[in-house]
Amino acid sequence: MPNDAALKTDAEVIQNVLDHIDGWSTDEATETWLEPVENYLSQDRFEAELGLLRRYPTVFCPSLVLDRTGAFLTREAAGVPLLAVRGADGRVRAFRNACRHRGMQVAEGCGRAGGFMCPYHGWSYGLDGSLVHVPHEEGFPGLEKAGRGLVPVQTVERGGLVFVTQEPGAFGDDVLDVIPEMIPDDEHLHLYDVAEVAANWKVLMEGFLEGYHIKPTHRESFYPHGFDNLNVVERFGRNNRVVFPFRAIEKFRDASRERSADRVLSYNNHLFPNAMVITFPDMRVALVLEPLALDRTRVHSWALNGRALKNEANPAATQAAMAFLDAGVVEDRAMACSIQRSLAGGGNQVFEFGRYEGALTHFHSSLRDALEHLR
Ligand code: FES
Ligand SMILES: [Fe+2]
Repeated sequence: MPNDAALKTDAEVIQNVLDHIDGWSTDEATETWLEPVENYLSQDRFEAELGLLRRYPTVFCPSLVLDRTGAFLTREAAGVPLLAVRGADGRVRAFRNACRHRGMQVAEGCGRAGGFMCPYHGWSYGLDGSLVHVPHEEGFPGLEKAGRGLVPVQTVERGGLVFVTQEPGAFGDDVLDVIPEMIPDDEHLHLYDVAEVAANWKVLMEGFLEGYHIKPTHRESFYPHGFDNLNVVERFGRNNRVVFPFRAIEKFRDASRERSADRVLSYNNHLFPNAMVITFPDMRVALVLEPLALDRTRVHSWALNGRALKNEANPAATQAAMAFLDAGVVEDRAMACSIQRSLAGGGNQVFEFGRYEGALTHFHSSLRDALEHLR
């Protein structure tokens, strides 16, 4: 598995897949990984992971969610309420979602606003976070409004995503240099969903990053359209790209056909530590796994479509893609929740990730190294 090499082209991946089909093979890591189960059970480890999420540039949302001036999204990231909004100058800024009077969250949910008025006593903030109005201001003698704007959080847009770093300094934004374009400009937001799952965020993440489970777990959902244990696995920086091929790829046995990923490859881009952008036919999904507790994760999903909306001849394509995806997601969550319930039972001291699960090895080794970097 190459490390930090340029990602393969679609044509190269397709050739790799066809070779794997012929050889009954899949990409294999050179090493396996033993992950102590204690790392899923330890409150200290969990707190350290939250600390990493606050200090690493992490995905807040797709850029297109904040598609115009005043478009905003609030959510908690690593346990901290944040507000991101696109300003009149076109820039996305994120702030700690805490009024500078007494801490009330100044915005809720998502939408579009000309500014933010705290619902408690009415202090008002501009899209750039500045404090613009304090009712009955004479009650705060000496208040320096210029110094009481919302507290900013370092924010950059890269590859079609908004990244925030709550506590900068430990990792530079250069960790994002390896991230290619993930979400093209012509995509649209189809659906934003937030769900809570009774499983550790890493257990949930693991379910996305290997194809070794496709036949047993997804026997009637994904498997009839895909392959069991057949992936092309690449690394870029601390991130992974895991390719899940569809059976329709066989059409490229015909060498005269121009090779394209459309409808034959699903790319799962794991953006370290806790986000993914996954391509499906007629659908792209951005996911953030937000740890709430050792055994609880909030999953933010943005279903994006560009192609389907433009494809007037097939308006049901997006719905079909969602249904296809939902069936598999239910199966994966059932596995994760079952694992979660067994974790503390002492059945395992370590989990062994095999050579087919190389993206998990890269995830856990990157996580260990990043945590050590913070010590
Ligand atoms: S807490 Fe926001 S105005 Fe008082
Ligand atoms: Fe799965």
